[in-house]
Formats: sequence, C-alpha cells, structure tokens
Amino acid sequence: MEKSPLKNIEHWEDDLLKRYPDPELPKKEKEEFRNYEDSERAETVREFYRLNHTFQTYDFVCKKEADFLQFNRKEMSLWEAVDFLNTLVDDSDPDIDLDQLQHLLQTSEAIRADGHPDWFVLTGFLHDVGKVLCLFDEPQWAVVGDTFPVGCKFSDKIVHPEFFSENPDSTNPNYNTKYGIYKPNCGLDNVKMSWGHDEYLYQIMKDYLPEPALYIIRYHSFYAQHRENEYSHLMNDKDHEMFEWVKKFNPYDLYTKAPVKPDAEALKPYYQELVKKYLPETLKF
Ligand SMILES: [Fe+2]
Ligand SMILES: [Fe+2]
Repeated sequence: MEKSPLKNIEHWEDDLLKRYPDPELPKKEKEEFRNYEDSERAETVREFYRLNHTFQTYDFVCKKEADFLQFNRKEMSLWEAVDFLNTLVDDSDPDIDLDQLQHLLQTSEAIRADGHPDWFVLTGFLHDVGKVLCLFDEPQWAVVGDTFPVGCKFSDKIVHPEFFSENPDSTNPNYNTKYGIYKPNCGLDNVKMSWGHDEYLYQIMKDYLPEPALYIIRYHSFYAQHRENEYSHLMNDKDHEMFEWVKKFNPYDLYTKAPVKPDAEALKPYYQELVKKYLPETLKF
C-alpha cells in the first residue's frame, strides 16, 4: 500500500480535473463531473496525498536530488524514453484510460493546432517523460502529485493541507515560517520543490530547450502557484514573466484528454524531426 496506493498514476490527474474543472464545459456537465464520486478511488487519492505530504521533506528532496541527478540509471533517446514510459500501462484498470504516449500526443497536438511555436509543441510532447521514475521503482508519491516548495511553510491552498501535520518540517522552526530558509523574492531557481517528475525532467532537459519550455516542464504541477498564487513572495520578475507560459500550458495538459486516440504512427515523422531539432541523440536518465 505504502508505495503505490493509486491503481493508476493518472488518477491524481483525474482528481485535478475535479479541483480545476474545464471552464469551457457547460455548467451542468461541470457539476456532474464534480459530483462524480468513485469512493474507492477517492480514498486512494487521499492516501496518495497523505504519503506525499508526510514524506516530502527538505531532507528527502536533497537525498533524491543527490541520487537521481547523477543520471546513472539509463541512457536513452527521447523515443526510447517514451516507449519505456509507455510500459507503465495498467491493464487492471477498467476505465478507458489513455496510455502515456496518447496523453503526450493529445497535449502536444492541441498546442500545435493552436498555432504555437514548435518548442511549445515539443514541450507538450515530452512534459511527462520524467514519470519514468516510476519504472526506476520510485513510490508514486515521489513521482506525481502537486508539487510545492520545501524549506518554508506549506500553503494551506495545497490539496489536502491537513496531511502536512505529519510532515516533520512543519514543526521545524527553520522550515515552518513564511520564508523559511529563503529570502523574499529570491527567485524559484533558489527554491527547492518537492521531488517528482517535473524537477527530474527539467534537470535532464535544461541545456536543450528555450527558457519558457524549461519553466513549463519544471513547474507544471505547481498548482499552489500557477492556480492559487500562493508563493509570489518567493518569485522574482523573471519567474512571473515565465509563469505566463506555465499558465498557458496548463489547460492543454488538463483538458485535452479525449477518448479519441491520436494516430501515433502517422504523427511520428513530424515528432521525429522536432526531437532532432532540439535534442541530442541520447539523454542520460
Ligand atoms: Fe505532469
Ligand atoms: Fe501531463
């Protein structure tokens, strides 16, 4: 139970949809969606956040960074990484869930259809590749879920804030004040975020993609900021400017999950070119 309470790691994203429903859906559908209650699943999502909030401490993040940022697990091309990630399908799940490649393509194709620059399309295509952490045997709560700063007070706008009482940092006077170990407006680059697929992929991609792409990858699960604006006091002007892109990206991530599956084979040549334009042959994971 401890390692993987969720039957499918996408269930935390389905839960996000309940918290942040698509504003373009008609009101009635929205209500129905919010009221849709699978109580067993809701329980697993709660348990997932209980573990996440209990164990994502400042020290935990330092340890994960020291380990994973050596990039000594696997060397793969982006394609191999996407194929690898796609082995994460859970066929015990009765829902018509999309596999990881389909989520990536639905996100990126929606960005492309809106005429955005190619690096933005590429960002949509690879933004969740950091989830390969699951395949390196990491617990779900250290791969997915909303991210938040560690080393300072946890905002009560973070989902299930009550579980932070179990986190030892919340009673540590170095970490439990508004600024904690940080200075006002020190910039997010100086702030440690809870560990997961966002930070991991950012670190892999940081030499290759334009700055807005890197912000999107690094902060796309930071709902307490891009939706709730709870950490402005740690951000500098550059962060605010770049968060416009993070906000622009979020609806493509959340609201493009259609049951119609994109034709991966037909789309492959376009994405192969795009990957070649920005990324080296192989990446270190
Ligand atoms: Fe993600
Ligand atoms: Fe995503």
